[in-house]
Amino acid sequence: MAIPSSAVGAGVGRAPGKLILCGEHAVVYGHAAIAGTVSLGTVVTAVARPGPSGITESSIHDERLWPALAGVVPPEGVGVSITSTLPIGCGMGSSAALAVATVRAIADLAGEPLTFAIEHARGFSVERAFHGNPSGIDHAVCALGGLVRYRRTPEGPVLDRLEGLPPLRLVVVNTGKPGNTAEMVAGVRERGCEATLARIGALVGDVEVALRAGDLPAVGHLLDENHRLLDAIGVSTPALDAACADLRAAGCLGAKLAGAGGGGVAFGLLSRPAEPVVQALRAKGWDARALDLGA
Ligand code: PMV
Repeated sequence: MAIPSSAVGAGVGRAPGKLILCGEHAVVYGHAAIAGTVSLGTVVTAVARPGPSGITESSIHDERLWPALAGVVPPEGVGVSITSTLPIGCGMGSSAALAVATVRAIADLAGEPLTFAIEHARGFSVERAFHGNPSGIDHAVCALGGLVRYRRTPEGPVLDRLEGLPPLRLVVVNTGKPGNTAEMVAGVRERGCEATLARIGALVGDVEVALRAGDLPAVGHLLDENHRLLDAIGVSTPALDAACADLRAAGCLGAKLAGAGGGGVAFGLLSRPAEPVVQALRAKGWDARALDLGA
């Protein structure tokens, strides 16, 4: 899309980050996964300016940044500024929120109305530049918002917002070491984990039933099982296992890693106030915070 020469001022795009509640990795193979948005996110400002487009300033520092954004920013006439409150490369949707916020900022500058389908298609080009062959769940959830069931099909993504459910209260622990999604997905493919991935896919259906029944202890047990299955396909780490054990010991109903693994974050599900749990985890030296999922 070219920016009309009449475009003046700035376009602004915002998008939230996300966490995958259950079903990561299996979602790459066409199984369903459930993910939701969180209250951290990214703001992109696109300013019309003469000359080649580029990044004016950014709180995200990654050599893939401009090659990824160049797929959705016109080659001439735009300066892009990026501010994000999301931890980078930790399974909380930093690249997906960046993709959606940039698409929105450019459309805002150009005065172009956006649909979800356009946001998803354009966002995919940014996500592919970062992650190779992603399922598309991350930026779909960031664009749609709320708690979402996502499945990739040959005909395109199938998404359903899980309406009428209260946000889930989580405590998120960042292990401090980013994971590499493309490498983790490639590793699972090399190891050939079809049976375990199918078990993860089936578990997602059980999580949805438990969520709709309001049975959070059952959801917690299923999250524990999801973590064991993710460990079995080789994407957990000693730090993620330790974070999950400490989340459970601090009172969470269940805990799992979130996203591609190999580093990044784990979370625990709570049915009681989060602050004492956050304090208990911080006392053990973890970088922990309370977040609502799907708000
Ligand atoms: O990029 P992350 O850490 O949010 O992980 C994405 C989830 C995966 O299922 C591992 C990959 C994908 O494309 O769905």
